[in-house]
Amino acid sequence: MKKIRVVSIVGTRPEFVKIAAISPLLSKNFYHSILNTGQHYNTEMANIFFEQLKIQKPEWNLRIGQQDATTQIAQIMIGCKNILLGNRPDAVLIYGDTNTTLAGALSSVKTNIPIAHIEAGMRSFDKTMPEEVNRIICDHISTWHFCSSQFAVICLQKEGLTKNVYETGDVNYDIFLKTTPDKNVTKRFKIQSKKYFLATIHRQENTDNLGRFKKIVSILEKLPLPIIIPIHPRTEKILKKTGIKLKNVKTIKPQGFVGMLGLLKNAEKVLTDSGGVQKEAYWLRVPCITLRSSTEWPETVNSGWNHLTDLDRNLIFKLAKNEQLPRNHLQLYGNGHASEKIVKILKKQLA
Ligand code: UD1
Repeated sequence: MKKIRVVSIVGTRPEFVKIAAISPLLSKNFYHSILNTGQHYNTEMANIFFEQLKIQKPEWNLRIGQQDATTQIAQIMIGCKNILLGNRPDAVLIYGDTNTTLAGALSSVKTNIPIAHIEAGMRSFDKTMPEEVNRIICDHISTWHFCSSQFAVICLQKEGLTKNVYETGDVNYDIFLKTTPDKNVTKRFKIQSKKYFLATIHRQENTDNLGRFKKIVSILEKLPLPIIIPIHPRTEKILKKTGIKLKNVKTIKPQGFVGMLGLLKNAEKVLTDSGGVQKEAYWLRVPCITLRSSTEWPETVNSGWNHLTDLDRNLIFKLAKNEQLPRNHLQLYGNGHASEKIVKILKKQLA
């Protein structure tokens, strides 16, 4: 019997985390190869995830690296097209909402290879975010939609997408449950557990708009506990370019998944513009302040553990100083078996 061939297209840090959860099962059930676009490329943003999370070695690496979004997407498309035409997999898997996700989806649809979208249906309803545009396009050209939440299923329904839509839970939760957070972070960074805030800032809306970026810096500087920031390369570039010096803030290199979970677990609170961090904070019961006006993860906000503050200085200070923690903590985003469910469905569909 011919073995079914599937290719996963990934290229950024959040995609490496997602594929870590599902790749062992894909390899067990299919002939599975990874195509790494190389959108994220250095040790801290890429290699460490393959090492720590024991992700299978990519069969191809396009080494795309830093480009403006249009060039990045175009070059990934050409690279993917050649590989997909040469190998003709039975399906392509894409993950989340990055430029790699979009370019991978477009190359697959143009080479007539069906697409399975993992983390389908997420919406922030803010089309100024590049990720929101990527999500919408990817969903509308995918054959199978694997959703992390009921909210995602409803979002797809509202856009007329009802066929092959499955609520499987979140693959990030699968890998979260399998990973032990680094126990040495407090020693390593000379910090005391629950005596610091963790912050992550990297979204284009917060870094490329200098007014917003300066406002974030001025807010962080005035918070009642020291801040630790694993600094994203984009944010580091802005700091270098503008010469802005951070007070009350310790910047460290981008962390691997194990170190990041360790820092998050020990933080008093987290301030972030990341999507994944909002969910991980929830799972670790760490209160989250989201420095955006929209989120794809509204359940974390409805639960009371996450607050969408945008850059409302007074609200952020109030939440940072004292906050009554919610009593309830429901199991959001599945039961830790999303990957199994996805692979089972795909196996049946591709048989
Ligand atoms: C991308 C995703 C975003 C995700 C984020 C996680 C898109 C549209 N956005 O944004 O959804 O949350 O990844 O990090 O795809 N850089 C390095 N070294 C690296 C990687 C990046 O220096 O290893 C630099 C790049 O050269 C670039 C900047 O960081 O200047 C931003 O990288 P980019 O590829 O645009 O994506 P992110 O902003 O990270």
